[in-house]
Amino acid sequence: MGDNGLHMDLLAPENDRAEAEVKSGVGEGRLAKVVVITSGKGGVGKTTSAAAFAAGLALRGHKTVVIDFDVGLRNLDLVMGCERRVVFDFINVINGDANLNQALIKDKRNDNLFIFPTSQTRDKDALRREGVARVLEELKQQFDYIICDSPAGIEHGAITALYFADSAIIVTNPEVSSVRDSDRIIGILASRSRRAERNEPPVELHLLLTRYDTGRVARGEMLTVDDVKEILSIPLLGVIPESESVLRASNTGTPVAFDEDSPAGRAYLDAVARFLGEQREMRFVQPERRGFLKVLFGRA
Ligand SMILES: Nc1ncnc2c1ncn2[C@@H]1O[C@H](COP(=O)(O)OP(=O)(O)OP(=O)(O)O)[C@@H](O)[C@H]1O
Ligand SMILES: [Mg+2]
Repeated sequence: MGDNGLHMDLLAPENDRAEAEVKSGVGEGRLAKVVVITSGKGGVGKTTSAAAFAAGLALRGHKTVVIDFDVGLRNLDLVMGCERRVVFDFINVINGDANLNQALIKDKRNDNLFIFPTSQTRDKDALRREGVARVLEELKQQFDYIICDSPAGIEHGAITALYFADSAIIVTNPEVSSVRDSDRIIGILASRSRRAERNEPPVELHLLLTRYDTGRVARGEMLTVDDVKEILSIPLLGVIPESESVLRASNTGTPVAFDEDSPAGRAYLDAVARFLGEQREMRFVQPERRGFLKVLFGRA
């Protein structure tokens, strides 16, 4: 995704760092849960979901940081609308060139939300595991949730992100290739996470079905929610509809969960509520019925 000049932080002061809040010890005694947003296949909506999920948790009053584990593509900061405020990043902190407070960016819309960006680098191994472990331990003291936006697949950054997870949100599109690759990631979470290595209770798994297009599902061009649930057999956290508002949100650097008028925004807020243990009816999966009736009665 390119910078199209629509981002709205032009007036943000360059030195609008997060020191005050982080140093104030607001989060003393906290021990954050590490949530990885992962997928087998690329381009399924992980970064969109990481931004939306972090925003949704912050809106619910939880102090949340969203970290970019993708050293290849720099786009979490764009989706969060803070790319012009990045001075130091995750790799600088891992390497000891900056401290956490210098790198964390406080969201301008919500006081509970922080962004921890990562710069592009050719060095695929820049996220050294000991360094990441140290930074996560420090963050855990200050936050309720640490949301990790992972690159796709099983390369170094993706494995590093899932290694530390307490909970994983597996982002899947309703198509065979995406579901098959999600199944592979579920296997990797079960065998290569730190929890697996230490014989601790396994990483909690959640399925997030994104880019769900009820029309295409009705026409048999995409798998249904039930198909995907049956194949992957992990609990369904939510179904996010295909929605133009996602593109609009990312063009303006606004996590879509801040847009309560959009179906995708509402679906993400529902998913966050379920993640926090609430019961919410699944929305945006129903219009199939109309499609089905149309097919039955041959109506245009
Ligand atoms: N619900 C949705 N409706 C419409 N478009 C969407 C939706 N979710 C994501 N997209 C679009 O799909 C594209 C890929 O999304 P995103 O960058 O979040 O995927 P990703 O899984 O992080 O990709 P990568 O594997 O490259 O990191 C983006 O253009 C995004 O705007
Ligand atoms: Mg991404």
